[in-house]
Amino acid sequence: MTQDEMKQKVAEAALQHVKGGTIVGVGTGSTANMFIDALASKKDDIIGAVASSEVTAERLAGHGIVVLDLNEALTKVDSLSVYIDGADEFDADKNLTKGGGGALTREKIVAAASDFFVCIVDESKCVAHLGAFPLPIEVIPMARELVMGVAGKIGGNPILREGYTTDNGNIIIDVHGLTIADPRGLEDELNSIPGVVTNGIFSHQGADVILMGTPDGVETIGL
Ligand code: 5RP
Repeated sequence: MTQDEMKQKVAEAALQHVKGGTIVGVGTGSTANMFIDALASKKDDIIGAVASSEVTAERLAGHGIVVLDLNEALTKVDSLSVYIDGADEFDADKNLTKGGGGALTREKIVAAASDFFVCIVDESKCVAHLGAFPLPIEVIPMARELVMGVAGKIGGNPILREGYTTDNGNIIIDVHGLTIADPRGLEDELNSIPGVVTNGIFSHQGADVILMGTPDGVETIGL
């Protein structure tokens, strides 16, 4: 089975977590795109979806799925029923690294507004410790050198994502070469640097369940 076929399987399996009459949070990336395509079959059952990026909003709308702004959604319901998204890495405690597609901040916000986070990945994303995938940090542009300096002091090699601006108008610094022994501690430490909007460690907003695609089918981790 190819990597794309494994992604397709988990995207389809995630549909079981979509409840009728609710608002669904939707992530960003190639696996999330496959989920959006699958979600089209349930578009008349749900109130609508909240997107974690402009790209995701366009794809949802292209399928005729109602797209709600998060603020608007939270005037209709107390919380989104589920958030469904991919990841760049996950560990045994369901901590994630996200932001390869640059949407980490909106992803973290929508995850925080949701009752349950279903992470959909192929088996290549499973790691013993986060850090092999460069850790993205969304930064307000004037704080670029400040944040790069701190990232260097904690042992990383920070590299500006050239020519990239987030949906929020900010830059991304990718920190290479970290071995992340304490995901929650590092998430908090980096987020405390003035000018950091958020970083791509999802420990506070880690997954509730991970659907992992393998050549043998979909493995459920954490339920
Ligand atoms: C985007 C993300 C994605 O979830 C992550 O990059 C995984 O993407 P893909 O499903 O294409 O492997 O965090 O910001």
